[in-house]
Amino acid sequence: MIAIEQQRVSEIAEDVFAGLSGQPKSLPAKLFYDAAGSDLFEQITQLPEYYLTRAETEILARRAGDICHRAGLGLTVVELGAGTAQKTRLLLQALSKRQLIVPYVPVDVCEPALREAADALERDYPAVRVRPQVSDFSDLGFLRHTRAPRLVLYIGSSIGNFDPPDALALMRRLRAELSEGDHLLLGTDLVKDRSVLVPAYDDAAGVTARFNKNVLARINRELGGQFDLDQFEHVARWNPEASRMEMYLRSRCDQAVRIAQLEMTVTFAAGELLHTENSHKYTVPGVRRMLSESGYALTHTWTDAREWYGVSLAKVV
Ligand code: TRP
Repeated sequence: MIAIEQQRVSEIAEDVFAGLSGQPKSLPAKLFYDAAGSDLFEQITQLPEYYLTRAETEILARRAGDICHRAGLGLTVVELGAGTAQKTRLLLQALSKRQLIVPYVPVDVCEPALREAADALERDYPAVRVRPQVSDFSDLGFLRHTRAPRLVLYIGSSIGNFDPPDALALMRRLRAELSEGDHLLLGTDLVKDRSVLVPAYDDAAGVTARFNKNVLARINRELGGQFDLDQFEHVARWNPEASRMEMYLRSRCDQAVRIAQLEMTVTFAAGELLHTENSHKYTVPGVRRMLSESGYALTHTWTDAREWYGVSLAKVV
């Protein structure tokens, strides 16, 4: 237990050290999802500006039966980045009507969110057997111990948080653990006007700003950092060339921040940007290309009424 804790802390320490030593400065995205961050992200999904979750829910609510039908019978559901698994309920419910037992393996870095999801799902859906897996996606070997045919869910537009080459590499690593006939259900946010995109990542109530700044709060909590959160400003920018939203924290002043456990002092110039996350926006042809280059064949993409968001089913070939 203690060994695991120490390993986890030192893993964060190394990544934080590397990111803050680099130029331009950055922080690893996995810092977002501790218990406080996962809580804030839940709040983001309910913001009026953050259309992604509602659009995806709309699609799954309308198409769950169709999706399950196309994915086949006797499925094991595996979900990468499950979080609290709210939207997954729509699929598990549809599957419960087709299968006596629905094995469900939610995978997430956030253990409290996983445990909460597992308890609630088993209570609400008697056919669902939850086997949670605490993991980031660096090791997908656990998939070998799940039974085929599988339906792997990677929804919530999380693929967009990888740069395209890394997204492709992840799809390939996933493919290597799967068998022909398995399916992947991939949620991707679609390219649209910046007047819709920017507010989704910079909401009026300031929840996204708090979510972004939670990475600094986490360094304070876990690594003895002394970030003053008021001296950083949340920035969300649309980069049309790279087809992505870019998130930063901008230093409001010249400052030096001590991080005790890293034995480092980081200096920021007034206006300096600290990069925290990207969120890539796809086109349907772009999704098709990525999937065909990584060992899948796109079966179908469903969109919401406004065509702001896509849910794609692909078959492992
Ligand atoms: N996967 C989410 C997305 O790209 C994560 C996210 C939402 C996010 N809002 C954010 C990440 C703000 C960083 C900052 O939409």
